[in-house]
Amino acid sequence: MPLDLPIDLQPPRVVVDDEALGETAARVAAQPASAPGVTEERQIEPAHLAKAGLIREPDSRVSEEFRIVQNRVLRQSFGDASAISSGVKNIVMITSALKGEGKSFVSLNLAGEIARQGDRRVLLIDVDPKPNSLSRILGVASARGLLDLARDVRLDVTEIVIPTAAEGLDIAPVGQNDGRSGEVFASRRMGQIIEEIGRRYADRLIILDAPPCLASSTPHALAPVCGQAVLVVAANNTQQSDIEAALDLLQACPHVSLLLNKVAPWMTHSFGTYSYLAAEA
Ligand SMILES: Nc1ncnc2c1ncn2[C@@H]1O[C@H](COP(=O)(O)OP(=O)(O)OP(=O)(O)O)[C@@H](O)[C@H]1O
Ligand SMILES: [Mg+2]
Repeated sequence: MPLDLPIDLQPPRVVVDDEALGETAARVAAQPASAPGVTEERQIEPAHLAKAGLIREPDSRVSEEFRIVQNRVLRQSFGDASAISSGVKNIVMITSALKGEGKSFVSLNLAGEIARQGDRRVLLIDVDPKPNSLSRILGVASARGLLDLARDVRLDVTEIVIPTAAEGLDIAPVGQNDGRSGEVFASRRMGQIIEEIGRRYADRLIILDAPPCLASSTPHALAPVCGQAVLVVAANNTQQSDIEAALDLLQACPHVSLLLNKVAPWMTHSFGTYSYLAAEA
């Protein structure tokens, strides 16, 4: 059914990258739970970035599509004509209605592409404390992160930021889950912490890899703090009613855009390497 939505009626799209599709789950299953993944120099290595699905071929079609998305996101966060009226401008939350729609893939590749361009540093924060979290895939599940920052007032944000082998890209892991993470993420304190990180790193783009809106209270709780949110929609998979319910939960965020993901290359009416989904009525 065609989408009939009140926002950003020309969502950019990301085609399926066949090599990456489905591999992450298998790799996560094969990875030991305690994998430290951080070298003595405290850096996330290229192998872990690749495991998490970071595409490092600038000429690939997927990279080209991420550049289009990147331009839109950066224009909102840092451009003069930004429509962001509340929240912290440089914070963008990546979420979806349901699980598995590609939030972490989009978060990492959007972050990687922006960092690769060299104009902005990017801090990617994992705010999804699920067992197969992005932090785990990147090998930093045992490192201190956001949850530790919320628990320990003596901890400074600089102590949880981990550089990666990708120039300009840093990661803040989700941290240690003591079983109360849902409550912590929904708390005012977590909103304040994220807001503070955004203000402290005002010249960087802060990307939050969030859980799905319809399965977690986190996106709803963090929506007012974020200058913008990107709702990832898996092509041919997500019901319009679910998308609308997710948008409803993101109402407090001043700028929400859609990103159509996992589009089969044959489904696109391309002009060049990039194509829009027209706003069919
Ligand atoms: N455009 C794409 N091309 C190829 N593979 C993709 C694409 N988008 C996502 N994937 C793959 O689909 C799987 C699910 O993606 P991902 O983990 O990013 O979803 P998610 O929304 O973060 O899931 P969760 O809700 O569990 O956190 C992964 O194996 C990922 O590599
Ligand atoms: Mg994810």
